[in-house]
Amino acid sequence: MPDRLDTYTHGHHQSVVTQHAKRTAGEAARFLLPHLAPGMRVLDVGCGPGSITVGLAEAVAPGEVVGIDLSEDVLDQARALAAEKGLTNLRFEKGDIFQLDQPDASFDAAYAHQVLQHLHDPVGALREMRRLVRRGGCVGVRDSDYSAFRWDPPDERLDAWVALYHQVTRHNKAEADAGRFLYGWMRQAGFEDVRMSGSVWTFPGYDTPEAWGNSWAERALNSQFGATAVESGLATRERLEWIAEGFREWAANPDAFFLIVHVEALGIA
Ligand SMILES: C[S@@+](CC[C@H](N)C(=O)[O-])C[C@H]1O[C@@H](n2cnc3c(N)ncnc32)[C@H](O)[C@@H]1O
Repeated sequence: MPDRLDTYTHGHHQSVVTQHAKRTAGEAARFLLPHLAPGMRVLDVGCGPGSITVGLAEAVAPGEVVGIDLSEDVLDQARALAAEKGLTNLRFEKGDIFQLDQPDASFDAAYAHQVLQHLHDPVGALREMRRLVRRGGCVGVRDSDYSAFRWDPPDERLDAWVALYHQVTRHNKAEADAGRFLYGWMRQAGFEDVRMSGSVWTFPGYDTPEAWGNSWAERALNSQFGATAVESGLATRERLEWIAEGFREWAANPDAFFLIVHVEALGIA
């Protein structure tokens, strides 16, 4: 078992969590939902603010969903959302995927959305998820691939941002291009039946370019990503301000377009 917690690159600044809280199970877990049924027990690893977890709970009610995350702060937000929706078949617990004490085969399905890209040992995490799922149950993961992001109009400040993002995640021993590795990681974790799919977010479409660009302007300056970039010597504050300005200008362009590629892997245990 690893002796360290993962360093979550984004951190839980409000600029980050606000973006995550827009996610839904209908979109983010579309590849998993056909495999869920009422009465099932589901684990949501790295559940964040819980906006996807509540949708999973609705899909399996009266079955139970357990959301785990390293951060108590974001779990409080998830608990508040569940209470607001009147859902009683889910609970949120502080937990590290590498240090869970749930028994083998105690879930029908396990899910992790945009989590493996932040872990120092994604194959170990998948092995653990496989252990927790009953035979014939499934493990579903979805991750983006930062090198496959595309945008228009071109801007050297956004180019600098994606290069810096790779440097910061490497510093954190994480993999920003996780999407392309999911199939191999699944197989290395012992899954023989792995079903792959892909999907994209477009801005506009999934959300507005304004919301996405302005969120990243703020994240560059105020989130854990920016703090790590400066503390590790990978960027100066001035460089982050330059990147943030680039995102603000890009977001204000009425023709702005951004594409995010996601890969989904569903492994049958
Ligand atoms: C990008 S967020 C995704 C949140 C949510 N799944 C979503 O898509 O909205 C990744 C989450 O994984 C959590 N996380 C990182 N490492 C973890 C670990 N080892 N065990 C459990 N959660 C972890 C972080 O705290 C963060 O909330």
